[in-house]
Amino acid sequence: MDDLTPLRQLWLDRINSATDPAAIEEVRLAALGKKGEISLKMRELGKMTPEERQTIGRSLNELRDEIDAALRARKLSLEDAALEARLAEEWLDVTLPGRPRPRGTIHPISQVTEEITEIFADMGFAVAEGPQVESDWYNFDALNIAPEHPARQEHDTFFMHREPGDDRPPHVLRTHTSPVQIRAMQDQGAPIRVIAPGRVYRMDMDQTHTPMFHQIEGLAIGRDISMAQLKWTLEEFCRAFFEVDEVELRFRASHFPFTEPSAEVDIRCSWEGGQLKVGQGDSWLEILGSGMVHPHVLRSAGINPDEWQGFAFGIGIDRLAMLKYGIPDLRAFFESDLRWLRNYGFAAGDTPSLSGGLSA
Ligand code: PHE
Repeated sequence: MDDLTPLRQLWLDRINSATDPAAIEEVRLAALGKKGEISLKMRELGKMTPEERQTIGRSLNELRDEIDAALRARKLSLEDAALEARLAEEWLDVTLPGRPRPRGTIHPISQVTEEITEIFADMGFAVAEGPQVESDWYNFDALNIAPEHPARQEHDTFFMHREPGDDRPPHVLRTHTSPVQIRAMQDQGAPIRVIAPGRVYRMDMDQTHTPMFHQIEGLAIGRDISMAQLKWTLEEFCRAFFEVDEVELRFRASHFPFTEPSAEVDIRCSWEGGQLKVGQGDSWLEILGSGMVHPHVLRSAGINPDEWQGFAFGIGIDRLAMLKYGIPDLRAFFESDLRWLRNYGFAAGDTPSLSGGLSA
């Protein structure tokens, strides 16, 4: 019988040059599988003489065991190497500091709108809404501002573009929240008690004016609602909003086409060292317009002025936010500067409530 040394060398070489588990399996089948070279050789033993069978049989058995052991060893070392490679690749330094999660804040305007809404809700005012792109009938005519009325110019209105020949009613970006008075009265009739917070637009830009700003409209219509109740409501509101006892308001006789009589309300404040403070000081800041709803306005909303009367007011939300939180420049509200937002913003879940403290 032939010398098994070359055969042994051949298979050991093939095993050592296999570089992954699949290649090892291929080698195993080719050597020890049913039709593998070694298996076939062992089958030939049957045709041999008993003496041959004894010597060759033993050598073949030894060769088979050696190949089998070499296959297992190679397979193990390949698996180890694969594991090492994976561990090296997927390594994670758990001692590194964690990355802070970006944290959003609630914009002061949103917060103050919530606070104001909360106070008026407590006095029985429901929230009403209207569109920001408004027909000029709702924004002006229905509010007793005739087409040639100078208030149309005073409002520095943004007009929506119209193609020549477009016969739809002209539209504007609403210059105040007062059109929501009309919509609410048309929808709900009288008696009614609503507030309407939202964005308004005027072409104006300086430290205390931006082309878009926020107002909150108030409207209370009943059988005998009076100017005295308007004054009480606003004073009560300011005390609750500023969370101080000594808020001082100044009611100045004024003029709005949609109220008669009308009053503008200023609040006492100071601007010491660029810091705005409410309650004391020699300055006054106008925060709202108000008055008794004009009969023409009631009529254009379908309400009979001989039966119903009431008051309305429009508060500048941005002004109130500046006053309450000592924010000197209105423009910063709308610059989306993250550092500013982190400084003046409120934590999420910081819901204002009258019982829990408005700005706590
Ligand atoms: N709409 C007025 C303004 O924007 C404010 C106002 C509202 C005045 C309601 C009186 C009554 O200036």
